[in-house]
Amino acid sequence: MKIEKVGVLGCGLMGAGIAQVSAQSGFETVVREIDQQFIDKGFGIIEKNLKRSMEKGKISGGDKDAIFARLKGTLDLEDLRNCDLIIEAVVEDLNLKNEMFSELDRICPEKTILASNTSSLTIMAMAASTNRTDRFCGLHFFNPVPVMQLVEVVRTIATSGETTEMCVEFCKAIGKKPILTKDNSGFIVNRLLIPYLLDAIRVYEQGLASVEDIDTGMKLGLNYPMGPMVLLDFVGLDTTYNIANIMFEEYREQRFAPPPLLKKMILAGYFGRKSGMGFYDYSGDKPVPNDLGL
Ligand code: 3HC
Repeated sequence: MKIEKVGVLGCGLMGAGIAQVSAQSGFETVVREIDQQFIDKGFGIIEKNLKRSMEKGKISGGDKDAIFARLKGTLDLEDLRNCDLIIEAVVEDLNLKNEMFSELDRICPEKTILASNTSSLTIMAMAASTNRTDRFCGLHFFNPVPVMQLVEVVRTIATSGETTEMCVEFCKAIGKKPILTKDNSGFIVNRLLIPYLLDAIRVYEQGLASVEDIDTGMKLGLNYPMGPMVLLDFVGLDTTYNIANIMFEEYREQRFAPPPLLKKMILAGYFGRKSGMGFYDYSGDKPVPNDLGL
């Protein structure tokens, strides 16, 4: 069997990115959202990305039209019925995800592989809501999806070799580098990244250094593209808080526990770049450290 038609659940930042790279790589792609405004917003992100590629001469106007011709937005789960692979990229709410997966399990033919882009839930917790645990795996992408090369392909104890192989081939077909990981909360990357980001907040909370110096230290000291505080704002403080809580729940280890400052920032509505305020204030021409009064 070959993957030809791809379904994506959710057209947020991650879902839109996954849909873009899928359509850009020649796959017929259907994205499902719960409201037309979310499809419009996600397709707007794709439009902007493709325009940037056009301006850089990487694709032509004809390529852009062909990509959009392969992309379809829908509000109806039934429209994903004939997909060979469906990748879920909705909010980290297990009940919500499982409702969709059990519905898809009911309407899709046997061949359809179901996958989740979860950043912290275990794949088995979702696979168990279906009768196709052998055709269920994790496909964890990174933000911004069109730029980041990596995809973690997650095998549960029940994922078949054929499913894993087909997903590895799909990742290669969309120009990504797949790596294999077993089914543990946070897989490889977030298992290492989340304690690092939380520690950076603790360092700041304890008054060891300023936000800017923590960022400069890790950026220039290790040649990272972004320091941890910029990265926290980029990933989203609410997203990081949710991931940390799920991982703490799973492992019960201190290093996954969200620091009190992170919780206070969420309560204040400081979600990072998306809300205009996080460890940096994005309201001016260029970001400046947010005065949190510490
Ligand atoms: N969407 C699409 N393309 C983007 C983009 C975006 N949001 N931001 C930048 N780009 C593209 C640019 O068009 C440019 O493309 P080109 O090479 O074809 O010209 C390229 O990326 C580089 O962009 P810039 O020169 O403008 O900016 P930078 O060199 O500063 O790179 C960055 C921006 C790629 C975001 C870089 O800062 C970076 O790699 N940061 C780290 C990102 C990271 O760590 N992501 C992982 C987060 S963790 C995660 O996603 C897991 C989840 O589970 C939490």
